[in-house]
Amino acid sequence: MEGSNHSVVSEFVFLGLTTSWDIQLLVFVFSSMFFMASMMGNSLIIFTVASDPHLHSPMYFLLANLSFIDLGVSCVTSPKMIYDLFRKHKVISFRGCITQIFFIHVIGGVEMVLLIAMAFDRYVAICKPLHYLSIMSQRICLFFVVTAWIVGLIHSLVQLAFVVNLPFCGPNVLDSFYCDLPRFIKLACIDIRKLEFMITANSGFISVGSFFILIISYTVIISTVQKHSSSGSSKALSTLSAHISVVVLFFGPLIFVYTWPSSSINIDKFLAIFDAVITPFLNPVIYTFRNQEMKMAMKRVFKQLLSYRKIS
Ligand SMILES: *[C@@H]1O[C@H](CO)[C@@H](O)[C@H](O)[C@H]1NC(C)=O
Repeated sequence: MEGSNHSVVSEFVFLGLTTSWDIQLLVFVFSSMFFMASMMGNSLIIFTVASDPHLHSPMYFLLANLSFIDLGVSCVTSPKMIYDLFRKHKVISFRGCITQIFFIHVIGGVEMVLLIAMAFDRYVAICKPLHYLSIMSQRICLFFVVTAWIVGLIHSLVQLAFVVNLPFCGPNVLDSFYCDLPRFIKLACIDIRKLEFMITANSGFISVGSFFILIISYTVIISTVQKHSSSGSSKALSTLSAHISVVVLFFGPLIFVYTWPSSSINIDKFLAIFDAVITPFLNPVIYTFRNQEMKMAMKRVFKQLLSYRKIS
């Protein structure tokens, strides 16, 4: 970060989403609601999984880890966006910008590997049910979680290594509400074509790679479920549809934002809001409302909390 001695830009200015007051108000209300709802929903999942022994299984440990990452997704861009919405001058320091880029990419990388781990967990549960307990041991679970964080950190540090010493001397206006890497590097005052390629390749490699792994795993699982159609298969299909919806909702906007980064319409900005604000809220909804076990566990947690209050 100290390499910026030849650059004169020490802060960046966000153009934000729109200048329309009505839309800003709408975005403000919706983003604040979804922000609070996803903070509460994900905290509740982590608390329920940790406190209920019925949920001490690989699937729920991974789900709790996904909720933990979703807390990060909620916090990395949306509080700043909500805070900035009605401010005329939306600024972020150079350090703040680099910090946002760092966390966005760590979180993105961790989330992708966790989704793969969850797909693997369902693959073992459905295709190799007799070996489930021996394959999905506590050790392999921990291995997935540690791998997810290592992959996320390495991916993010590589992205940062490309940009941290870039000279910035000219315009410092980002047509966005957070520091997204493709727009950020366009402001550097050197030829960025090679750099753009490296950054897109790094992001593309990890996201397209995990997307294909996920598609292949779910295809294999679904074809197995259909071959052995039995009473258990409808339950398996409903669990699977929850997982697949989360994957589609996570990757859909991401693919759009990164493959059409410079579209003149504002669709990509609103999709970026979708990814920042709504996706972390959808995970708890999708996994919880359709999951009987989780609902029962949450009821038990609430009952316990209420009885503690009566005693004290
Ligand atoms: C994440 O997964 C690991 C490994 O199973 C587990 O020990 C840990 O409690 C989980 N973390 C959260 C926040 O639930």
